[in-house]
Amino acid sequence: MTSLTSRLVWPQLLSHGSEAAKLHLRDLFDKDPGRAGRFALRAGALYLDYSRERVTAETLPLLTRLAEEAGLAPARKKLFDGEVVNASENHPALHPAMRAREPSPEIYPMRERALDFAERLRTGQIKNALGIPLRHVIHVGIGGSELGPRLLTEALADGRGPQAHFIASTDPAPLRKLMAWLKPEATLVLLASKSFSTAEVLHNGRVLQGWLGEKWKKHILAATAAPEAAATFGVPGHNIFPMHKGVGGRFSLWASVSLSAMAAMGRKAFEEFLQGGAEMDAHFQNAPWMENMPVLLALLGVWNTNILNCKSRAVLPYGESLRLWPAYLQQLEMESLGKSVGLDKKPVDYATAPVIFGATGTPAQHAFMQALHQGTEIIPSEILIVSQDKMLQAHALAQAEALAFGKEDEDAQKNVPGNMPCSVLALDGLTPRALGNLVVLYEHKVFVQGVLWNLNPFDQWGVELGKKLAGPMEAALSGGVAPAHLSALLKVLRKD
Ligand code: F6P
Repeated sequence: MTSLTSRLVWPQLLSHGSEAAKLHLRDLFDKDPGRAGRFALRAGALYLDYSRERVTAETLPLLTRLAEEAGLAPARKKLFDGEVVNASENHPALHPAMRAREPSPEIYPMRERALDFAERLRTGQIKNALGIPLRHVIHVGIGGSELGPRLLTEALADGRGPQAHFIASTDPAPLRKLMAWLKPEATLVLLASKSFSTAEVLHNGRVLQGWLGEKWKKHILAATAAPEAAATFGVPGHNIFPMHKGVGGRFSLWASVSLSAMAAMGRKAFEEFLQGGAEMDAHFQNAPWMENMPVLLALLGVWNTNILNCKSRAVLPYGESLRLWPAYLQQLEMESLGKSVGLDKKPVDYATAPVIFGATGTPAQHAFMQALHQGTEIIPSEILIVSQDKMLQAHALAQAEALAFGKEDEDAQKNVPGNMPCSVLALDGLTPRALGNLVVLYEHKVFVQGVLWNLNPFDQWGVELGKKLAGPMEAALSGGVAPAHLSALLKVLRKD
C-alpha cells in the first residue's frame, strides 16, 4: 500500500519545500500585498486566514495533488456512506450521521430521547420524590465522554438549565467538595461512558451511588453504548440513554453523553449546534480541495509536520468560553493520529501527529509564547478569535503579527526572528452554529490527515496497556507483589 513518501508528487513537494523554507513571511507579504486576501477562506461562520503559513502560491496545488493521490474522495465517500472505516475494530464512524438532517431510524430515537429528557430537566419537570425540581447534575465521564460535553456546556450554557458539575479523575478531592456542597435530593448523577467499563467512571459512580443512598438511588442516569452494563451497575432502565456503538468516544459530543450539556444549553441551541455540524459536513463533502477548509487545515498540517519538520502545534483560543479547546483537540488529534503503524500494519517512515498544547490568550502570552517568539523550534500556532472583546482581538492580532514578521534588533537578545507559521481562525461570535462548524472542521481535518498518513484515526490501541497495568500497580501499592525495580518508589508511596 503506497503512503505519504511514496506518492508521485512527494519528490516535488520535498524540493519545493527546501526552497520555500528559505523564504521569510516578511518577504512573502512585501512581494505580494494581496496575499492576506487570497490565502484565506470562509466556510459557514468561520473565516480562516492562513496567509501567515509558510506556503507560496505553488505549495497548495502540490498538496492537493497529495490528497488526490491518497484517494481522499473515495475515502470520504466511505465515511459518509457509513462503511467500515475503522478496520481494526470493524466499525463504521457514525459521527456525521449523528447530525444528518434526516438521522437514521437507529440514531434518531436515541437522540430524541436524550434531548427530550434534557428539555424536561431544563424546565424543572424532572422532580425528586418530594416534588422538588432537580437543579444539579454531576456529570461523571472521562476523555470524549467528558471533554466534549464540558466544552459544550462551558461555551453555550445560558444559566437557565441545571448546573452541570464535571468529574473525570479519581482524585477524591473535587468529588468530596461537590458531595459536601450539593444535596442528594436535589442532584442527578449522570454516568457518561460509551463502554461503561472505564475504571475511573465506575469508581466515581460507586462513590456517588453511596452518596445518593437508598432514598435517592433513582437519581442516577447513564449515557452509554452498553446499556446492559449500566443496568447491571444498578441504573434503572428508564434512566439509561443509549448511544450508537458506531460513534467513537472522541467524536461523541453529538450523542447522549452530552445530556448534561443539552439541558444546560437547551434543545434549540443543541439543534443549532447539530445544524452547524451538518453545514460543515456539506462543505467538506462539496467544496473543491483548494476551497475546502478541513482539507486545507489537514494539508497545512502535513506541510508543517512533514516538510518543515515541526513536532508540535500551539492552540490559542482568544476567549475563555473555549478554554477547553486545546484539551479537546489534544484528544481528538493525538488519540486519533498519534500512531506509527499504517493501515498495512507496517511502520510508517514519516512523522504523524504533532504534540498539541495550548491555553487561552492572553494568559498564554504570559506563560509559553516566549518560546514561540525566540525559541529554537519552529512551532506552528492556531489563533482562534472567539471573543468579540476588542482588547482580546487586538492581542490575538498582535501575536499573529509578531509570530509572522518578528522585529529585527541589533541586540541579539531582543531580536524576534518571526517567520513562525500561524493560522488565524475567526468565529462570527460563539454561537451554537459556529461551534458546530468548528468541531466538525477538526473532526474532518483529522479524518483527512488519517488518509494522508495512511492511519486509522478511529481506534486507540495504545491506551490499553496503561489501563491493564493499573490493576497490578494498585495491588502493589496495597502491599501485593511488585517488580523489584518499583520497591523503592513503592516504599515511599506506601510510607513504609
Ligand atoms: O481510553 C481512551 C478512551 O477510550 C477514549 O477514547 C474515550 O473517550 C475514553 O477512554 C472514555 O471511554 P468511555 O466513554 O467508554 O468511558
